[in-house]
Amino acid sequence: MEKITINTSCCRSEILVGEKWETAFGMLPEKGVVIITDDNVNRLYGNKFQKIPVFSIKPGEASKKLEVIESLAAKLLEEGIDRSGFILAAGGGVVCDVAGFLASIYMRGIRCGYISSTLLSQVDASTGGKNGVNLGDTKNMLGTIRQPEFVICDPEMLQTLPGQEYLSGLAELIKTAIIGDKELFDHIERSSDQILSRNSGLLTSLVAKSVRFKGLVVSEDEFETGLRRILNFGHTYGHAIEMHKGVKHGFAVASGMELATEFSFEKGLINYEEKSRIIRLLNRFELIEELDISYDQLEKLVLHDKKKTGSEIHFVFTNGIGKGIVEKVPVIDVLDFYKRFRAKN
Ligand SMILES: NC(=O)c1ccc[n+]([C@@H]2O[C@H](COP(=O)([O-])OP(=O)(O)OC[C@H]3O[C@@H](n4cnc5c(N)ncnc54)[C@H](O)[C@@H]3O)[C@@H](O)[C@H]2O)c1
Repeated sequence: MEKITINTSCCRSEILVGEKWETAFGMLPEKGVVIITDDNVNRLYGNKFQKIPVFSIKPGEASKKLEVIESLAAKLLEEGIDRSGFILAAGGGVVCDVAGFLASIYMRGIRCGYISSTLLSQVDASTGGKNGVNLGDTKNMLGTIRQPEFVICDPEMLQTLPGQEYLSGLAELIKTAIIGDKELFDHIERSSDQILSRNSGLLTSLVAKSVRFKGLVVSEDEFETGLRRILNFGHTYGHAIEMHKGVKHGFAVASGMELATEFSFEKGLINYEEKSRIIRLLNRFELIEELDISYDQLEKLVLHDKKKTGSEIHFVFTNGIGKGIVEKVPVIDVLDFYKRFRAKN
């Protein structure tokens, strides 16, 4: 088991990687606890939720909306949860985003912890304290940044994850490697078969590396005023692809990373060999989506992106495997690169 501590201005969050998920029950207050989960996780793991009240939401992105927050808040109130209450989220990125947001606003904030049950949430979503819901078709528009007290990442839970969900999480792991950890990239490259067979020991080590990197970034820049933007590698195009095609987050981000890597290559930031290694690794796990968004559609979706300020955008490039760099670029450059890329491919 690896314990990674994230210290921010207000709090301390412990991420336990390789720990059994049931350990969470020993970390809760004696009363005033509720579990928020989704129907799939509840079906698979609910029989071990002890006698704690469970509120289960519908699985998937469609649950990331204000209506769901409001309805859960009403249930907490009915259950008699007051300011001393505790929300235990058990699920993937959707459940953690919803439950974390609710915990941060219910009675102006109550305590929470996560059992992180997908690869995507273990390597990314449940570290860093970002939470929130979508507004119409614009992702993560309403939310806060607030650290859960603990996050448990149990690799055994990943054994029940559907294949596409697992691969989606792998994309975020590869993202971390590209922008921050060359050794992690090499490790993923040489262990692809074991990764596909979901070897628990290997997963503990890979998830821990990813969490450690994200933890360092978040500890330095909790509110994304600088360094933390680096974590958005692949997300400018990725969010647009996710919204347009309705594909899973990781697959959209993988296609966004392909574009961002090619853009970096065009700008002379990364050499041909490293660019090819990145694209090869994404293809090894069949992560890249066919790009069928028109220029106009992309423009509309990118302009919606909340990371845009004025006519410029903070775009994350890679300047070599293991290194990311954020530059403010005109939105038009991002759109024009897409046009050139599509014309060539
Ligand atoms: N807060 C952040 O920093 C952050 C970062 C990245 C992504 N996200 C968000 O995370 C969300 C995506 O997260 P996700 O990919 O985990 O999706 P998800 O939460 O929808 O989970 C994917 C599917 O797997 C099922 N599932 C969960 N755990 C399972 C298990 N152990 N076994 C079997 N099935 C299981 C779920 O029911 C769901 O159907 C997106 O909304 C994205 O915006 C947030």
